Amino acid sequence: MYNKEESNKLQKSTERLLSHIKDSTYEAKHLNELREVLRFHEYRYYILNDPLVSDFEYDQLYKMLEKIEAADPTLITSDSPTQRVAKGLTKDFPTVQHLVPMLSLENSYNADDLLDWDRKARELTGLDKVEYCVEPKFDGASISLIYENDLLVRGATRGDGVEGDEITTNIKQIRSVPLSAKFSEFGIQQIEIRGEVLMTKQNFKKYNDFLAEQNLPPLANPRNSAAGTLRIKDPKEVAKRNLEAFLYHVSYITTNKPSTSKLLATHSGMLEMLWQLGFRSPDKEKKVLKGIDAVIKYCHAFEEERDNLPYEVDGMVIKVNDLALQDKMGMTSHHPRWAIAFKFKARQATSKLRAVEYQVGRTGAVTPVAKIDPVPIGGVTVGSISLHNADFIEEKDIRLGDTVLVERAGDVIPYIVKSLADARTGGEKKIKFPDKCPVCGYKLEKPEGEAVWRCNNSLKCEAQVVERIIHFTSKDAMDIRGFGDAIVRKFYDLGFLKDIPGIYQLPYEKIRGLEGFGEKSINNLKQAIENSKQQPLHRLIYALGIRYIGETTGKTLANAVEHLLDFKNFSLEQLQNLEDVGPKVAGSIYEFFSNKENIQMLEKLESLGVKLKNDKKELSTGGNLSGQTFLFTGTLTKLKRSDAEEMVEKNGGKILSGVSSKLNYLVVGEDAGSKLEKAKKINTVKIISEDEFLSIIG
Ligand code: IVH
Repeated sequence: MYNKEESNKLQKSTERLLSHIKDSTYEAKHLNELREVLRFHEYRYYILNDPLVSDFEYDQLYKMLEKIEAADPTLITSDSPTQRVAKGLTKDFPTVQHLVPMLSLENSYNADDLLDWDRKARELTGLDKVEYCVEPKFDGASISLIYENDLLVRGATRGDGVEGDEITTNIKQIRSVPLSAKFSEFGIQQIEIRGEVLMTKQNFKKYNDFLAEQNLPPLANPRNSAAGTLRIKDPKEVAKRNLEAFLYHVSYITTNKPSTSKLLATHSGMLEMLWQLGFRSPDKEKKVLKGIDAVIKYCHAFEEERDNLPYEVDGMVIKVNDLALQDKMGMTSHHPRWAIAFKFKARQATSKLRAVEYQVGRTGAVTPVAKIDPVPIGGVTVGSISLHNADFIEEKDIRLGDTVLVERAGDVIPYIVKSLADARTGGEKKIKFPDKCPVCGYKLEKPEGEAVWRCNNSLKCEAQVVERIIHFTSKDAMDIRGFGDAIVRKFYDLGFLKDIPGIYQLPYEKIRGLEGFGEKSINNLKQAIENSKQQPLHRLIYALGIRYIGETTGKTLANAVEHLLDFKNFSLEQLQNLEDVGPKVAGSIYEFFSNKENIQMLEKLESLGVKLKNDKKELSTGGNLSGQTFLFTGTLTKLKRSDAEEMVEKNGGKILSGVSSKLNYLVVGEDAGSKLEKAKKINTVKIISEDEFLSIIG
C-alpha cells in the first residue's frame, strides 16, 4: 500500500506536524497532509499491526485535525479520519438491497467431497488441472461494502441475502475498513465488496470477562458477538468493542476507464488489489494452488493451525481463481459453482440434559449448572455446562430431558446454544429454580433488575466461605502455589481452616499426619503461604473477592491509597471520583469497608504479617527509574518476567505494552523477535540486555 519512499515521506510529515503541535503553529493548510498522515498510521496499526508512532502521538495528531475542522466545518469531508466517530444514537437500520444477491457456499467435509467437486469443476471448465485460490473461511458476520468514486458510501449486513440492514455508521467504527480507497487508479467507479466482521478471540474473552463482572451471561462465541455488535444502536459502543474486518470477495464492479491491471482478471488478483488499497484481505493466509491434491493438503495443514490463529476460522473456502472461468461456471440459485467451503471439525454437538445442579459462588450468586450426557466436542469431553442464571434458562426455554445444542468455540468455555424444541417427546420438565440456598438453606433473593438469585448469608454460608478462600489463594489473586481448591476444601472439611486469616494459622502438626503431605510438600506450602504475605496491594484487593472488583479495578484502588484501611475514610463520592469506578463499584467498596467484620479480618491479616501497605506508592515518587518506561522481550535467564516488571514499578518506572517512541528501554532476553526489530527502527529506544537492566536497577 505504501512503498518505502512514501512511508519515509509520511514519517517525515508526522514529525513535522508533531513539531507544529508542540509549537501550536498548525493551521488549515496542513489539513490534507494531516489526514494522509493519520490514514497512514491507522494502516500501520490496524492492517499491518506494526505502528510507527505511540498512541499518544496519534491522539495529538487526531486532535489537531479535530481542531482545524471545528474552526471551519465546511472543510470536513466524509472520509476524514474524524468521521468514524459518530455522535448520538442510530434510530433504525433501514433495509437496503444488495447490488448482487449475497449467496451462500456449498459445503464439503472431507477430501472425497473435494475430489467430487473438483471433478465437476474440471468438466465445466474443460481443464485437466484447475487453478484455485484457497483462503480461510472467517467465522464472523458477513457484510457488504459499496465504494463509489473512491468513497465508502454504504455498509450493510447480509440479511436474507437479497436485502440487508444499512449499518454504514457502525461499519465506520471498524478501523481496518478504509473510509476511502483509490479504486479510481484501477478505473473502478463503483464496487461492491464482501467480507466478514470478526471479533478476535482475545477481545471476545475480554468482553465476556467484562460481562461476567457485571453478572451478565457471556456470549456464546466471537461470531455472535461480532454480529450483535454490528446491530448496536450506539456507534461509540461499537467502536469500543474493537471489531475487525476481512474482505474476501468483489461481487460487482463498474468501470469508467479501461484498466490495464492484470489484477482484475483473477480472484487472487482482486484480493491483492484490495490489499494494495489498504484493506485487510486474505494476504499471507491465501494460497494459489494448481489441482485439488495441493488444495486438500493445504486445508488439512491450516486446520492444524486453527487454534493458533487470533480469530475463529470454521473452514477454508476454495475458489476457482480465473474470473472468466468463474463466469463460465455460473451459479445455482443458492451458491456459486466456482467456490466451495471445506468445513473443519464441528465444535458443536447435541446431547441430553439430564439434571441441573446449583453452585453457590463466593458472592452468593447461585449458578445453575447443566449436567448433560458427556459428548466430545473439538477434542474435549463436555459433561457440565453453566446455565448462568434463571433468565438464561427462561429465555432459551431449556427443559430437563431436552436435547440441547452445545458449542465449544476454540478455547472458549462450553455453552448451550439452544434446546431443540422439535426433538421433544412430551416428557420434558420445566426447570424450577430453588427458593432456598442449596448449601445453607437461607432464603434466596433476586434484587429488582438483576438476573441473579443470591444467598445473602455471606459470612455463614459454607459454600461462600470456601469459595472466597479458594479465590484468595488463586493464581491471579495471592498466587499461593500448591494451595488449590481440592486442598482448601479438604482443610475446610477437616476443620483446619475456617476463614481467610486461617490460611496463615494452619495447624501444620495435624496436616503432617495426612496422606499426601510429606515434609517436603508441607515446607513448600509453608513457603508459598509465607511469600504471599508480600504480594502487592492490588493483588490483595482483588483476592478479597469484593463484588465487581476485578484485577483492573484492584489496581486502580491500590494506587489510590497508602494503606488498605485508608478506604475506611473514603466517602462514596471520593470512591466514584477514581478512574473507571462507577456507582455500582463504589457502592460495593463502600459497603465492604463499612462492615466491622471485614475490617477485623483485614486487621487480623495484618497482624499475621500480610502486607496491607502500598509499597509502590511510597517508592514511585522517589524511585531511581521515575518517569522511565520499560518493556521486556524474549526469555529472561536470570529473572522471572513478572519479578523484573515488579522491580521496575517498585523503582518508579512504568511497563509499556508495546514498542513505540514512548518507550525508553527495551530489555532483550533470548530469542527476541518482532519487538526487537521494531525497537531498532526507533532511535530513541535504548536496547539493553538483562545484565544491563540489573545494573540499572542497582
Ligand atoms: S466467498 C459468492 N470467502 O461463509 C461467494 N465467504 O458459508 C461469497 N465466508 O456467506 C462468499 N469466509 O459469509 C467467501 N473467504 C471467504 C469467506 C466466506 C467466510 C462466509 C460468508 C458466506 C459464508 C458461507
